[in-house]
Formats: sequence, structure tokens, C-alpha cells
Amino acid sequence: MAKGLATFPFPFKEDTYRYSNNSVLLDPPYAVDLTSEYEEEITLKRKLLLDHPTRCFQALPHTNEAQWEIVSLILHNLAEMSPDDFQLHINGDIWTFTNHKTNEREQFIFGNNASLPYEPLNFVGRHVQEDLILMGQRDHDLYLDAGQLCFPANWSLEFNLGMTFVEIHSPITRFTEGGLDVKIRNFIMRLEAGKPWVRRNWSLNAGRRLDTSLETFHLWGQERQRVTADNAGQLVQLRVEVQKLFRLPRTHSILFTIHTHLISLEEIAQKRSWLAQIYNILVELPDYIAEYKGMMLYKNAVLAYLENKLQQS
Ligand code: HEM
Repeated sequence: MAKGLATFPFPFKEDTYRYSNNSVLLDPPYAVDLTSEYEEEITLKRKLLLDHPTRCFQALPHTNEAQWEIVSLILHNLAEMSPDDFQLHINGDIWTFTNHKTNEREQFIFGNNASLPYEPLNFVGRHVQEDLILMGQRDHDLYLDAGQLCFPANWSLEFNLGMTFVEIHSPITRFTEGGLDVKIRNFIMRLEAGKPWVRRNWSLNAGRRLDTSLETFHLWGQERQRVTADNAGQLVQLRVEVQKLFRLPRTHSILFTIHTHLISLEEIAQKRSWLAQIYNILVELPDYIAEYKGMMLYKNAVLAYLENKLQQS
């Protein structure tokens, strides 16, 4: 998972952080990205799907057509982005997808579930590093109708399935202030096909782990107690989610893709501008945000580590 400083999607533009709609138009308009961790993360993803099928995949029955739309979008994106690694041949309804990275060739009849080994969303998600969430739009609202989720930042797909956008975001302290939750929901409901958006969300993790599901909190949550100013550089990771929003034109649903990246504070410390920026943000961060992000227990240890590094640099 080590991510070079050069390619890491550092999330900060300023020296302070508050919740906002920080989405920008996505260019190039691809729903997924490929990194050097592809093989490692696909292997982990498939193991999680095998060991915890209902934790990692959920879909309401009415989502079948939208799931096929996602298959089409993602396979076309992969073949276009990286033609040496992925190929897609379409012959009438018969689609052949070749993934040279995993050495797999998948042939199926488009729209025919019986021709796939899994439900369409659960099939296509096994070829990308992203988690994939399908939001249905109806009755002037957005509902979490399906998802393949292996690397959640402390939330549960099984618990959230069927919830509205506002309900999903209700655990976030002061996210309703100024009507922010409703404004963002309305922004998403106005998205147009062919004009996708992207944003970056961030948090800190104690421990280098992509699978921080709510269901496994007991396995990773206590790592927070181990953080000290001495070990924070290696133990604490900046966790960034690159999140993309696509309107699916046929079913009018929304595809929300989440690509999770981790980088240790030690690596960040190698770039002085990033080191200073993350320090400034954490010093100023209001407690209600630090509390929600689960970093109160070790924030002071992190600050001591960063301060020390700043003095040395
Ligand atoms: C429609 C797709 C989206 C889905 C399915 C989604 C889902 C979620 C979930 C499950 C959480 C964690 C909630 C919890 O603690 O249980 C969350 C957090 C959050 N979401 Fe969304 N979200 C979506 C889009 C957005 C957009 C477009 C924005 C802003 C422009 C946004 C802003 C946030 C923020 C600020 C948090 C708190 C994260 C943190 O402080 O670490 N979300 N979202």
C-alpha cells in the first residue's frame, strides 16, 4: 500500500478544515483509477468478499438494470484508460472482458445475470480497487440501494442499506448546520450524465489497514491507544478517499465510487509543505470534527510528532 509522495492525493488546499461541498468537476471522467497497489488490493478485496459476503455486498432487487449500467461504465473506462491491461470486445450481446493484471477472461451476455458468476455490481467491483455504491433517485430523494464495500471508513453497508442520503450522514456532528446535508443531497440530485464530480475526504487511521469496517472495530479500534509521539510516524496514516459521483443516464441513479489511499505520517514528513499543512489543520481542528473522525485519543501524540519533525526540517 505504500504510496509515493508524487502520486498521493493530498486532500488539503488550505490551512484550516471544515465540512463543505468540496466537489469539483472530474477530468478525465473515469469512475476508477489504477495504482501500483492494484494486485494486492484486488486480492484483499476478493478475500473479504469470500469471507464476509453480506458485509461486503448488498443489493436491493430493483437495482439490476442500474447494476448493468455500472458494469458497462466501468469496463469501458478500464479498457479506455489502460488498453494494455484491459480489453473489452462487444459482439451483439456477447461481451468479452480481458483483465491481464489478474489473468482472467470473462465472457457474458450483457443484461443476463445467469451468464455471470455474481450479481453485476458484485462482479465488476472485483476488477477495480474502488468501493462502489449505488444511490437510487426517486420521490425527490436519494437512497442507498446497493453497494460493494470492502474498505469502509468505519461504517456498515448492511446497516445503511435502504437509508436516504440525509439519514446516512446523520451521525456526523454539525453536518446539518446551514442545511449542508440537504444542500449536498440536492446538488447530487441535479447531477447530469456525462458531467461527473470528484471530491477528497480525509481522516487519520491508527494502523495501516484498508478494512476498517464498523463490524471489525474490535480488531482495529484499540490501535488508537498505542499511539505515542515516538511511534506516530509509522503507526498513524492519513487516510484519503477519492470519491466520484456519476449520473447513470438510463436508470437515472447515481454511482458513487470510493478509492481509499493510505500514507504514513513519516512519509508525509518528507515533504515540508504537507507536513506544515497537516500540522496547521490538526492544531486548529475543532474538537467536534476530531471527535467524529475518532482521533481525539491520539491527536496530541500526533501533534507532538509533527511538531518535532517540523523543528528538524
Ligand atoms: C451519494 C454518495 C454518498 C454516500 C453513499 C456517502 C456515504 C457516507 C457515509 C456512509 C459516511 C459515514 C457516516 C457515518 O459515520 O456513519 C459519510 C461521511 C461523510 N460524507 Fe458522505 N456520502 C456520499 C456523498 C458525499 C458527498 C458528495 C459529500 C460532500 C460533498 C459527503 C460528505 C461527507 C462528509 C464530510 C462525511 C464525514 C467524513 C469525515 O469527517 O471523515 N458525502 N458519507
